[in-house]
This record gives sequence, C-alpha cells and structure tokens, in this order.
Amino acid sequence: CGIVGYLGEKDAFPVLIKGLRRLEYRGYDSAGVALVNGNGNLNVLKSKGKVDDLVAFCEDKDISGSVGIAHTRWATHGEPSSANAHPHYSQSKNLAIIHNGIIENYADLKNKLIAKGIKFRSDTDTEVLVQLIEYIQERKSLDLLTAVQLALHEVIGAYAIAVIDRRIPNQIIAACKQSPLVVGIGDNEFFIGSDASPIVEYTDQVVYLDDGNIAVLRLGEELKVVSILNRKLYPEIQTVDINLGQLEKGGYPHFMLKEIFEQPECITNCMRGRVNVNGDNVVLSAVIDYKQYLLNAKRFIIVACGTSWHAALIGKQMIEGFCRIPVEVEYASEFRYRNPVITKDDVVIAISQSGETADTLAAVKLARQHGAFIYGICNAIGSSIPRVTDTGSYIHVGPEIGVASTKAFTGQVTVLTMLALALAKEKETMSYECYRKIVKELHEIPGKMREVLKLNSWIADLSRTFTYARNFLYLGRGYSYPVALEGALKLKEISYIHAEGYPAAEMKHGPIALIDSDMPVVVIATHNGMYEKVLSNIQEVKARKGKVIALVTKGDDTISRIADEVIELPDTIECLEPLLATIPLQMLAYHIAVCKGKNVDQPRNLAKSVTVE
Ligand code: G6P
Repeated sequence: CGIVGYLGEKDAFPVLIKGLRRLEYRGYDSAGVALVNGNGNLNVLKSKGKVDDLVAFCEDKDISGSVGIAHTRWATHGEPSSANAHPHYSQSKNLAIIHNGIIENYADLKNKLIAKGIKFRSDTDTEVLVQLIEYIQERKSLDLLTAVQLALHEVIGAYAIAVIDRRIPNQIIAACKQSPLVVGIGDNEFFIGSDASPIVEYTDQVVYLDDGNIAVLRLGEELKVVSILNRKLYPEIQTVDINLGQLEKGGYPHFMLKEIFEQPECITNCMRGRVNVNGDNVVLSAVIDYKQYLLNAKRFIIVACGTSWHAALIGKQMIEGFCRIPVEVEYASEFRYRNPVITKDDVVIAISQSGETADTLAAVKLARQHGAFIYGICNAIGSSIPRVTDTGSYIHVGPEIGVASTKAFTGQVTVLTMLALALAKEKETMSYECYRKIVKELHEIPGKMREVLKLNSWIADLSRTFTYARNFLYLGRGYSYPVALEGALKLKEISYIHAEGYPAAEMKHGPIALIDSDMPVVVIATHNGMYEKVLSNIQEVKARKGKVIALVTKGDDTISRIADEVIELPDTIECLEPLLATIPLQMLAYHIAVCKGKNVDQPRNLAKSVTVE
C-alpha cells in the first residue's frame, strides 16, 4: 500500500495524485484522498481500481484544500471496494485516516466500539483505528495528538498512519510502527510518503520515522517528533539522493523494460569504488570494518523472500565454494516462526530490495535477539532493514518501480559475489589466480550484459510463439538452478502463465510426467561444468516432444541442433553466469506478458513492498 500526505500553501490534490502515481508501482486495488476545503469540510473521495479511476471519479467533486492525505490500498482485511478503500473517516466525519499495516486486535476493539454505539461503514481494521481515536478524543476532550497516542497504546500490530482533523486544517499527525513512513520538509510545507518517491520532486530534506515515532506537522512550525509517551525526539534530517528521471519511464513503454535495460549501468554503480579498476581487488567497507564477526562466523544464514531468496541461493553457492563457510538459505517467513537454531557465532544476511518486507524484517529482529551478527543487502536507502542491521552493503541500483524485480536481482547477486570474494581473500580459501580471474571477469559483466540486451527484439519475436502455453518448465543445474527459479517466477508474476523452476536432474522425479508437445521447457545449458549432464536432460525432454528453448554459450552447435529455439549468451565464468542468463529470461517473461496484454508493471494481486506478513 502507499501513503501520501500534503500540508502547505499549494492545492493538495495535484500533489497527492502525483504522489499516488509515484507509488502505483507498489501494487494496489483501490485508492482515495481526503481533503479539508476552505470552509473546513472534510471531503473523502475513493474508488476501486487505479489512480486514473480515482481521478475520473473526482472530476465533478470538490477537490479544493491545501491539506490532504491519500492512499493506495492492497487488500488485507475486506475485499477491494470503494467502501474499504482509504481514507477512512470517523463517525462525526471530523477525522480521516490512512493506514498501512495490520491492526491485529481490530476485532476486539471494534466490538468494544460497537458496544458504545459506534457505527462502522467498512470491514477494515483501519476504520477501527480512526473510530477509536475519535472516541478517545471526544470522551476525554483531548487534543488530536494525545488521542492518537492513547489509541496507539491500545493497538497491537503494525502501522504507518496519517490523520487529519477538519477542525484543525493546518495539521497532520503521522505515526509508524513496523511500517515505514517518511516526512518531507519543504519551504513552509510538509509531505508524507510511505517511501521517499512521492516527496523527492518537492524536497530532498526528509526524516525517516523510527518505530514508535509520532510526527506532528503544523504549518509555520518546525517538524515535531514525539514518542507514544510524548517524549520529545530529535530525528536526523537526511538529504535523499533520488532524481526524478529514476522515477520515470524515460521513453520505455514500461518500468520493467527500462529496468531490464538499466542493468549494465546498475552493476557498474554497484561495483563502483568496490571493485578496483585494475580488476584485481574487491573492497567492501563492511568486510573491512566488521572482519572479526564475518571471518569468525561458524555459519551464515541468509533470509529473504521472493526474488531476493533466489539471489540468496546463488550467494550460498559462492560463499560455500569460495570461503568454505556453511550457508543456509531460508524463507524469512518460515525461519521466523520455526524456532530456528541461531547463535552468536552465526552471521545472518538479510536480502531485501525494498528493505521493508515484513517477514524479512521480523527474521532480522529474531536473529538479533539470539545474538547473531546481522548483515543487510538492500536497495532502498534508509529503509527499515538497513536501519536494524549491524552492517551491510547497499546494491545501489536506483529505485526499482516495476513490481517484478529485475535489476535488484542482478544487483544482489553482484553484492553477494563481491562479499564472497572479499571474504575468500581474507580467509585465504581461494588461490590468488582464481580470485583475480573472477574479479577481472566481474569487471567485464556490464559489457557482456549489453551484448545480451541486443537479443531483445529477437526474444520479442520468439515470445509470440509461446503465448499459447498454459504451463512452462524452467530447468538449470548448479548456479543455473536459481536462475531457472527466477525465470519461472518472472513469467508467473506478469503473464499469469503457470511456470515451475526445477533442478534439471530432478525433472525425472516428477515434472517429466507433464511434458508433451505443448510444454515449453526453458533450459539453461551454458558451457560449464554441468554441460554434458544438462545435454542429457534436454534429450529427455525432446524424447517426449517437449519444446526446448535453450540458453547456450555463443558458438555451441551441439545443443543448437537439438533445441527448438536457442538464445546465445557471451561466455563467462560459471559463477557469474546468473548475471547474464537471467536477463533473457526477464525479457522472455516481459514480452510474453506484453503479447498477452497484461499489465506488466502492476500485475494483479502483487505488491512491490510486502509490509504485511
Ligand atoms: C514482493 C515483490 C517481489 C520481491 C519480494 C521480496 O513479493 O513483488 O518482487 O522479490 O516481495 O521483496 P524485497 O523487497 O524484500 O526484496
């Protein structure tokens, strides 16, 4: 879900709508705004669907006012509908609220409020909160800040909220716990966002609120931040470094395609200052500063979700292979509820593009309680996970807007490669020749990615042939197995074709039963240690009339003769192949989805930042 707020001298509506559009990428099913007009009336306008639907709905409505809050919703409690869309307002219609997160004890609170005679208009947990605030405010004649503080005392769950009161139109109160919230400070104006993207075109001065912080935004006054117990806090004002171009499509039809094409530059940025120009040294400041923890670790545990989990599987192979440290890869959601064995000799690596995924954040907190050292690999600067880790390395690929992750994946793999190399050097577990060879080749990757991107129009043509498919199988071994998983995930996410990634040799233990002449099978069959084995797996597919799309190393004429379609990749070292082989799979998924007329950047039911568990 996305949150935007504005308080200042401008018309709030255009700022809020633009902000919602900047947050569209997070995925949602309904949107709404609440504004206080010049007569002190609260206008709450909401609609199911996209921001465009909301704008159309607002065409003949009163959208005046220079204070407002707006929201895009991704349904958790209650189906997508305009009644369940935010903002929600209190019984008297004095207060309006927007909320990200989940109020876990909402049912109890709701029953208590119903017993007091309060009527509800929606099925959401959020409405309970605004009704509770008003109930407390009126019963005790309290100011809004105190009422919000008392209400939050009663709430169990995660939230980022913003509240306005039509009787005090020069004020917004915002608070958060386990759900991010950013306040932008402009010239006699304030902005609120669930991330910095709706704010950066107006100001680069921001405050990231910490858990339990409440921000009081008042026109003509400085930003005030207090705790729930009303202790005054002094948060740091940070300067954000995101430019508008990074938030716009720059001539591409979709963010996803733009982000696929940005990868060579992203990887260069990711390596800048870390891989030395002569290509013979990798320096990660975290490894230098926290050497004693990293080198003495008995085990690494990587926690992540989705695409980040796939990057983790590649990281595991490198860290184990280069550094001889045992590595476990865990879904954060499973790890956190499993009573896992974690000790102070473990290093827990949390990988998250957004830095906000609720399960990953909770896994980090759990690991910290057990005394593990925590290392974050994130993209969104200043987001929640980097704020709770001991150290980490940003991937520096810029904002990723397309819901299906692309450049963040290759950025994560690049950081994991650098981490494994830096540790291997310190631990002396790899020969200098081998180290140097990989570092030099890492340098070549952006150039080789550019070559891969030249395949785009050919892959677009190829994609048309496969739009008929209802199922796809993706196969790979070793380093290519996580690539197969990632390729299948991309296709599923945006084209809604069912796809499964499998270790190629495991195919004969089940999925082979699915293969017939309608089944496209994508096989990563590059020229590496596994080549002969994968070749046999391709024969097994062909013997059952499956359609093979093979990713091969340039110049391979054996597989080219057997496969139905061949995608040629530049040669590289086996451990770096995922950085190249993933790109055609991203393009394949993209073009199939485009051919099928799907909404590539905002696939149905998916959210970019999953801040609920
Ligand atoms: C969501 C996104 C995925 C992403 C996953 C983990 O499901 O749609 O693209 O891989 O969350 O997100 P994170 O921000 O933690 O990497």
